[in-house]
Amino acid sequence: MGGAVSAGEDNDDLIDNLKEAQYIRTERVEQAFRAIDRGDYYLEGYRDNAYKDLAWKHGNIHLSAPCIYSEVMEALKLQQGLSFLNLGSGTGYLSTMVGLIIGPFGVNHGVELHKDVVEYANERLDDFIKNSDSFDRFEFCEPHFVVGNCLEISSDSHQYDRIYCGAGVQKDHENYMKILLKVGGILVMPIEDQLTQIIRTGQSSWESKNILAVSFAPLVQQNRTDSNKSEAVVLPALSVRSLQDLSRIYIRRTLSSLINEENPNRTNTPRASQKRKRRRCRRRRRINTYVFVGNQLIPQPLDSEEDECIEQESKDEEQEKDIEPIKPEEPQVNHLRDKILSLPLPESLKAYLLYYRKK
Ligand SMILES: C[S@@+](CC[C@H](N)C(=O)[O-])C[C@H]1O[C@@H](n2cnc3c(N)ncnc32)[C@H](O)[C@@H]1O
Repeated sequence: MGGAVSAGEDNDDLIDNLKEAQYIRTERVEQAFRAIDRGDYYLEGYRDNAYKDLAWKHGNIHLSAPCIYSEVMEALKLQQGLSFLNLGSGTGYLSTMVGLIIGPFGVNHGVELHKDVVEYANERLDDFIKNSDSFDRFEFCEPHFVVGNCLEISSDSHQYDRIYCGAGVQKDHENYMKILLKVGGILVMPIEDQLTQIIRTGQSSWESKNILAVSFAPLVQQNRTDSNKSEAVVLPALSVRSLQDLSRIYIRRTLSSLINEENPNRTNTPRASQKRKRRRCRRRRRINTYVFVGNQLIPQPLDSEEDECIEQESKDEEQEKDIEPIKPEEPQVNHLRDKILSLPLPESLKAYLLYYRKK
């Protein structure tokens, strides 16, 4: 049972492989993927599989394969300040990555059918904000998740710049999804076994492009019986940030710029592919079909396999002899945290500026 790209040993390894296979193509998407450890979205005891290019399902918790998330993140063409709606937001893994790109003046909403999954997503989000080393290297748009069936969103809902649907959409619901999009916005969803990018070009015009052949579990349909008729799902309000919150964002931004001026050679990516492991006959192929087998989504190669063989590998090894040996990774310094802690401010204010993070 193979993945579309080689299995990684850790998150960085997985991202290296996704980059090498060209599923990840832009720097901002790469940074978001490196900042969020996919293993953190797995339950204890299952984490070993987190760095394989495979979907994972356990009870109601369900993550798509990393190569699909890579294609989705690239196709969404995310930018700072955009509004994003995730339909079937699941564990919040994708929404959290999106939040790192759209930044504090974006909007980040998710709708998920299962209450226990929303609780799980909120726990994971809280853990990211409190404990992740990445948090201080980005400006973040915190996702807000609501429980409900995303096919029952209230008809007076606001529209979004970017929408992703994480479960298979029936043709009948295509227009419902398209109407949620602002003019100029981008919707990415699996429909008729194709991951599709739809751009709203005008009030009643859309352009569609197939990205990848896929097979997603379908969206759960609305409950249509009158006795169980559920209420329309109300999306979170488009709230304005408080003056206090805005001050924190601008103080942190100013301090980060100062730090960058003081250390012009510092990069925002903690590890720029420093680790390149040798693998015999590494498979470099793009997989373009996915099928469900039981509860696993299995990549099915359609293209001919292009196995990179030992001959090429020994050439690489020859070349690598001329390259400087890899230095051991230096421990990450949190410059922003250090700077805030060094300010002549009351401890309570420093704690606020640090989002009450302990590390
Ligand atoms: C493949 S998972 C998406 C995972 C998500 N992208 C993540 O980052 O964890 C699909 C999700 O869609 C949810 N779902 C299915 N039908 C739904 C519906 N009608 N309304 C809302 N959520 C739905 C499922 O419960 C599941 O969590």
